[in-house]
Amino acid sequence: MVKVAVLGAGGGIGQPLSLLLKLSPHVSTLALYDIRGTKGVSADLSHIPSASTVTGHLPGTLPECLAGSDVVVIPAGVPRKPGMSRDDLFGVNAAIVKGLVEAVASHCPGAVICLISNPVNSLVPVCKEVLVRRGCYDPSKLCGVTYLDVCRANTFVGEAMGDDVSVNVVGGHSGNTIVPLLSQTPGISSLSQSKVDALVERIRKGGDEVVSAKEGGGSATLSMAHAGFVFVENVIKALGGDKDVVMPAYTECDVVDGCSFFAVPCRFGKGGVEEVVGLGEISDGERGMIEDMKGALASQIEKGRAWAIDAS
Ligand code: NAD
Ligand code: LMR
Repeated sequence: MVKVAVLGAGGGIGQPLSLLLKLSPHVSTLALYDIRGTKGVSADLSHIPSASTVTGHLPGTLPECLAGSDVVVIPAGVPRKPGMSRDDLFGVNAAIVKGLVEAVASHCPGAVICLISNPVNSLVPVCKEVLVRRGCYDPSKLCGVTYLDVCRANTFVGEAMGDDVSVNVVGGHSGNTIVPLLSQTPGISSLSQSKVDALVERIRKGGDEVVSAKEGGGSATLSMAHAGFVFVENVIKALGGDKDVVMPAYTECDVVDGCSFFAVPCRFGKGGVEEVVGLGEISDGERGMIEDMKGALASQIEKGRAWAIDAS
């Protein structure tokens, strides 16, 4: 039984994610923070008979929200509109996330941070620099959440194969930094290369598909709440002693030269990420995709690092 804090809990992701966490038997306290709306959201959720107590926090009570938290989930920040890239969100969201992670460093420095806000590729390095400067950076406790790419891959590839599949997606969380490893899916050779290429493209552009369908109303919220919940619940199970938790996380590691952060399957345990499992067997084509994207990912990582150092 753990305390989970959701920062950005009043938003499009924050509300359904908080609902799913309220239903979890593994959560004892659910602390919801946002600059608006959390009084209503927490009152509403508090009427659900489940294992957890829910508290709502507005600016001024962020310390109480965070104190004693084992896991902090951050979906705070602005979402894309059609025509925007995730990187266009950097200026606004880096400032928001920096402030929130400074508070985490002050009030629950041992918590596992699960960062959802975009651009994940650059904001996780921002979090690292904030925590380093506060003397409490533990690489095993800082994760970017890229699990939505896995959910999309499982859905799109599963539909194409007519079967349930479990796809590994590695790299980062934008454009060609998203690298689905479809060669690892049993039976994938039954699909033509052009079909496989189309699936890779659709997985990479899954976010754009939703942004465009929402016509200015934001980006993925419900599927992200599901993905965030599955990720966080697995982290919680591992914190509680479950030894079989392997989840992809955007974490500091050295699996690909030049990219100090990479989304890769990780074994979680009582201390967060306990082992970076690695890429597994990959095809020449997938090796090529990683070669093609690693320069872009490295510069997005550097953008976050340099910004955080400048802002500190
Ligand atoms: P939203 O605008 O609906 O909600 C964001 C919430 O953050 C709002 O309620 C807002 O008040 C709050 N907020 C803003 N500044 C804050 C601060 N300083 N402290 C606390 N809360 C603050 O947006 P959304 O659709 O929920 O998306 C949130 C973020 O998640 C976006 O950056 C989006 O791009 C990202 N996202 C990431 C993934 C992923 O796969 N990692 C998927 C979908 C969306
Ligand atoms: C997604 O993949 O849905 C998110 O990163 C949101 C976005 O901007 O596409």
